[in-house]
Amino acid sequence: MDADDKIAVGLEGVYVAKSSICKVDGINGKLYYRGYAIEDIAKNSSFEEVCYLLLNGKLPKLAEFEEFKKALYAERDLPEEIVGIISELVGKASPMDILRTAFSALSGFDEKLNDNTEQANMEKSLKIISRISSISAAIGRLESKAQYVKPDKSLSHSQNFLYMLNGKKPEQEKADLLDLMMMLHAEHSSNASTFSTLVTGSTLADIYAAVTSGISTLKGPLHGGADEAALKMMDAIGSPENTERYIDEALAGKQRIMGFGHRVYKTYDPRAKIIRGHLIEIQEHADGKVKNLTGIALAAEKMMVEKLGETKGIWPNVDFFSGPIYAYLGVPGNLFTPLFAASRAPGWCAHMIEYWRNNKLFRPLEYYEGEIDKQYLSIDKR
Ligand code: ACO
Repeated sequence: MDADDKIAVGLEGVYVAKSSICKVDGINGKLYYRGYAIEDIAKNSSFEEVCYLLLNGKLPKLAEFEEFKKALYAERDLPEEIVGIISELVGKASPMDILRTAFSALSGFDEKLNDNTEQANMEKSLKIISRISSISAAIGRLESKAQYVKPDKSLSHSQNFLYMLNGKKPEQEKADLLDLMMMLHAEHSSNASTFSTLVTGSTLADIYAAVTSGISTLKGPLHGGADEAALKMMDAIGSPENTERYIDEALAGKQRIMGFGHRVYKTYDPRAKIIRGHLIEIQEHADGKVKNLTGIALAAEKMMVEKLGETKGIWPNVDFFSGPIYAYLGVPGNLFTPLFAASRAPGWCAHMIEYWRNNKLFRPLEYYEGEIDKQYLSIDKR
């Protein structure tokens, strides 16, 4: 047996754990959170309820939900040192790098950091979900040269994000749309960032260390960074009329079109379908910039589906239509991936807690191709 038979490049097709959190059916384009279809979740639930569902494995009863929301909202405040770190780095580092650094520093402010009981990790998860959102919003706020806005505990999770970002309470329609986007990004089984979260946690490092790995992994344009990259591409295309030429040239030059393709979905990503539907709805009353982006996105989608959909199984993924939606919500392009991280935090935490119930250190093998038994020469003889 040679190396190529032994190695699953990119761990493609490899199962790494049992889980009852999320099912991705890439053949039929279906996604389930704890057994509930994403379409039902999108229509009926809220980000807060999805957090409860992912962490606890069931939908909450009314009293449980009220208690959960209260506990989640209570954790929103950022220590002033964390706001200080963000202020120091704004303008010097990218928002994702600032998020990674500020989030990592949060561990210093959690007295239960080294308590690895499930109860403590559930409590820490609420802190993480609440504060990663506050950090992301604060980065956007300070990037725009405005003053830091303290969280408002009377607001919902999505309302508070937009409030901390823009300094004013958002219209309900916009908060609802952000809530939907956060639900759609909350969880996606064993994707790269969730896997790296588990790899770090499998060493019995704490949950902050594990989620910091998840944030680092999300940054890349092949994963969470694709949303910002897709928006940059739409900006470069400029207008719907230019789309065909741009995509043709990009494909001829073997470039990847960001926001398309997926390791597991070989059909339309159901999340992208839902986002597309909302984009069509909002474009009616959106401003010229969002209308233009929507025109480009729909033209690119049509071309890509015709050229690569059925033939190569390359379809829009969750990151493709997000750009015009976030632009409509007033979220700047370089904040898309931090917002994605804030949305994915419940997924990372739920997986970490589940994995620790049956922890096993991740330690795969490499197929060594180098030499052995070489003669060591002292430095003066080389
Ligand atoms: N545009 C053009 N061609 C593509 C694209 C794309 N977006 N994606 C895949 N391909 C082509 C590759 O060039 C390759 O072609 P070839 O067989 O002729 O060499 C073939 O499809 C297979 O590509 P792989 O990279 O081997 O497939 P993989 O499963 O590793 O890729 C990935 C998945 C990384 C997501 C890929 O589709 C991609 O790079 N997409 C663009 C980035 C993106 O949108 N990422 C977000 C994914 S969703 C998420 O993480 C939240």
